[in-house]
Amino acid sequence: MEHFIYGGDYNPDQWLDRPDILKEDVRLMKNAHMNEATLGVFAWAVEEPREGEYHLDWLEEIIDRLYENGISTILATPSGARPRWLAEKYPEVLRTLPDGTKAKFGGRHNHCFTSPVYRQKVYEIDRKLAEKFAGNPAVIGWHISNEFGGECYCPLCQEAFRQWLKKKYGTIEALNRAWWSTFWSHTYADFSEVEAPSPIGESATMGLDLDWKRFITDQTADFMKVEKKALKDGGAAQPMTINMMYDYDGLDYGRMAKDLDIISWDSYPEWGGPEGNEKPALGHGRCHDYMRSLKDQPFLLMESCPSSTNWQEVSRLKAPGLLTCASLHAIGHGADSVQYFQIRQSRGSSEKFHGALIDQTGRDDTRVYKEAAEVGRMLERISRAKGAVTRARAALVQDTQNRWAIADTQGPRNCGMGYLEFIQELYRALKKQGIDVDVIDQDHGYEPYDLIVLPMLYSVRNENDRRLKAFVENGGVLVGTYFTGVVDETDLCFEGDTPHGLTDVFGIRRLEIDGLYDGQKNTLTGNGKTYSCDRLCERIAPEGAETLLTYGEDFYAGESALTVHAFGKGKAYYLAAHADEALLSDLMRRAIFDAGIGPLVQDLPSGVEVQSRLKGDSTYLFFENFGTEEGKISLSKNESVLYGEQDGSIPPCHVLVVERKN
Ligand code: GLA
Ligand code: ZN
Repeated sequence: MEHFIYGGDYNPDQWLDRPDILKEDVRLMKNAHMNEATLGVFAWAVEEPREGEYHLDWLEEIIDRLYENGISTILATPSGARPRWLAEKYPEVLRTLPDGTKAKFGGRHNHCFTSPVYRQKVYEIDRKLAEKFAGNPAVIGWHISNEFGGECYCPLCQEAFRQWLKKKYGTIEALNRAWWSTFWSHTYADFSEVEAPSPIGESATMGLDLDWKRFITDQTADFMKVEKKALKDGGAAQPMTINMMYDYDGLDYGRMAKDLDIISWDSYPEWGGPEGNEKPALGHGRCHDYMRSLKDQPFLLMESCPSSTNWQEVSRLKAPGLLTCASLHAIGHGADSVQYFQIRQSRGSSEKFHGALIDQTGRDDTRVYKEAAEVGRMLERISRAKGAVTRARAALVQDTQNRWAIADTQGPRNCGMGYLEFIQELYRALKKQGIDVDVIDQDHGYEPYDLIVLPMLYSVRNENDRRLKAFVENGGVLVGTYFTGVVDETDLCFEGDTPHGLTDVFGIRRLEIDGLYDGQKNTLTGNGKTYSCDRLCERIAPEGAETLLTYGEDFYAGESALTVHAFGKGKAYYLAAHADEALLSDLMRRAIFDAGIGPLVQDLPSGVEVQSRLKGDSTYLFFENFGTEEGKISLSKNESVLYGEQDGSIPPCHVLVVERKN
């Protein structure tokens, strides 16, 4: 598509007895400047009401009518929710819970991904869809299933897990070593003895827990590949995606990304809370950056809400302008689409109060509809930025497998290690400097960057110590923190000095890790400044590094807490404690300066976020004001406003798009 995609989930299958509504929807979508609809996400029971009996003509009629009105289709496979007949006839498709209980029919996203029957039935319907629609010019992409997630513990899954382990370890001795299973006499004599972790069984073997999660990702990806194959066998050549979720840790999306043509995800920030809009914006900004960095290419904002959701704690309305801000925020971070859940609100069941372009009144003069139409106009105005790429020079490492490992450590702080919170605090400190940031996992290359921020890389895999060392040697700036380089990928502690493989890079050695109670604090002082820290404090011994801050209290008062070390052509900072916002902000400013990264604009107003995308000889700058005060950007001669106030001012809940000619 030449323009940004603008549309969203549309469920005409709920309205087949209302041709008047189906007709009216097309008019309303068109008038809102939409050019896309995502169809069939949960339509299996209509598409195949009885086994082997396919009804797809209604879908064709709708796809064609939309297309005649300038609206293309992203067509979903319906495997996110199965029809009742399937569960009745083949109970094996239903999930088994961790305690062995068999789930009943109901809900969605709850199938066994191993079940050959489920795979076969999904293959058949997917292939039928592809055979009918692959050649239809209206269909521009495939949306595989919906928000993959969850785990099944049935005998089929257990056996598949054992096979997966056999492939990974080869011998049971190797598995026993990797999982340290001699502990508590849990040694395995044979792969056939392995069971998935369970609350009524094995729950204290971290290597097992981690491998089970890896298996779940691989098994889900394997299921997804069956769907891809079905579509391809049916003739589909369009790009394929799955819709991912905010900070979801049930799957390692990094492992799934390579099997997708394009990344897409569903973003539902909790706007309008007591803490304001900046915080949710930064949380979802980080997730946008994470999604973009999965393939280092533009992604799709597959779902977002035009007004309020119905499943969050409270359903706050979006303040006027916020929909525009949120939409542009995604575009700025690299989205090539703004898509909603949903186009038309359903009348019944659990999402009847979820926001939609068209609510139950059916009117086109609602506040939400009018702002959505304005978003459509905005996307048309800035359409030349479509496909533009992001070239961040700083990267923040957020690693899902490391997150699993940290959540499962048993010590040094079982009341909360704060991994994601810390990442978010560092992200905020970086973004406040007005730069672009990639959010990458530890399988991503470090070569494109001048600055790597590496919070709590507890579990190290894929030669990360060696690769990080090379990064600094070649001139990169690295900021590492407490709880880095402790264990390998199956949670075996490294022997010898830590941070493993990086002691020479940081010029320090870890001595001990102190976990603080909630509410306990220490201070960090140096150069006339005092900061505070809490949560986790490491005692470290500098071995070559220069000490910048020392602890102010406790028996380790006076010992190093922040160090810097020149290594090769680069330098490495080591932050030994969970520090406050002021220190993170000063540290990030200094590291960005060391890395030679300039801000996207001078004097970014507070509350305003900025992102950039490049295309040809243009840099597109996107500004959203999530704060409470008006900001202003001073424009230079080579910059022009594509959308927003011509003088560069940005009132709260407003946006600005600037094209800079390079
Ligand atoms: C998810 C699902 C949608 C819908 C929305 C509601 O993202 O994919 O089907 O349930 O949530 O916010
Ligand atoms: Zn199963």
